[in-house]
Amino acid sequence: MHRTEFLDRFMDDVRAGLSASPKHLSPEYFYDALGSHLFEAICQLPWYPLTRAERALLERHAEEIVAPFGEGTSIVELGCGCGEKLALLAAPLCKRIPRLGVHLVDVSETALDLSRRTLGRLPRVETSAHRARYEEGLALATARRTPGAGDGGAVLVLFLGSNIGNLDPEAAAAFLATLRASLRPGDGLLLGADLVKPAADLALAYDDPLGVTAAFNKNLLARINRELGGTFDLRSFDHRAAWNAQSARVEMHLVSRRRQAVRVGALGIEFAFEEGESIWTESSYKYEPDGVVRMGERAGFRCFKQWIEPNGRFSTTLLLAEERAAGR
Ligand code: AVJ
Repeated sequence: MHRTEFLDRFMDDVRAGLSASPKHLSPEYFYDALGSHLFEAICQLPWYPLTRAERALLERHAEEIVAPFGEGTSIVELGCGCGEKLALLAAPLCKRIPRLGVHLVDVSETALDLSRRTLGRLPRVETSAHRARYEEGLALATARRTPGAGDGGAVLVLFLGSNIGNLDPEAAAAFLATLRASLRPGDGLLLGADLVKPAADLALAYDDPLGVTAAFNKNLLARINRELGGTFDLRSFDHRAAWNAQSARVEMHLVSRRRQAVRVGALGIEFAFEEGESIWTESSYKYEPDGVVRMGERAGFRCFKQWIEPNGRFSTTLLLAEERAAGR
């Protein structure tokens, strides 16, 4: 993905999202350099257990998770963050195979840099980084299955950290079906999904007392100011996180404290905000363990095994591509 391509899409999405009612922006744009670092900070907050819970599962079960994969395997991580979890899985695998291909896919340059550095510590790992959105990155990566591996070269896709939670149910189903379509029988998908937990825990996870999540959310406006010549006054927007039990999702918003107009120079447009009007910036869906399995099965996978971390209420599920794809 080229810079101008990215900027064009960013501009189109901001134009469409801020002209819509209700206003919305895609969480994909949180992750500029500052946003990526703020997200890494969120992962260390005591109130945000997802990352620790998932890391604990991967640390404990890495051998078992990679057991179905052998020589010729490549790992593709969609939304690689800092690469730390990938390294936990790659370590036992590259001990017993001569060479491991790793493909990193992320829209964030910062995330790709951090991950490359993390993986550099492992022997016999050949890393390529793709600055791309998920579908495009996956297509690039599967086109470059480990050469010379013949049919033995399986692909293990990692979609971790509950990144799937940003997609609403229809989009998640469509995404898993797309993913399945680019995989072959025997390929795997390791899916990390955060689980439904008490409302008070979710409130703290998405509106932490240090204000890091608020900063992460508001940085989206700061980014529009920096990259698109916006005039957002960050102090006149409030961070709000709300658990929608009906839809099983946490919704993040930026709420205008007053009636105001904001110009976005690159678009040549002024957007009007009412007092209390919000921009919906993110949904984080939460799952039940069997819901994750069913979602995978509907897309043409079978569940190899699911692991649950009780303290963080987090799930990791290894799905294997079935002989016949979905839509039977
Ligand atoms: C990276 C999408 C999984 O939804 O929990 C963290 C992002 N948003 N705090 C999530 C996020 C607010 C995170 N995901």
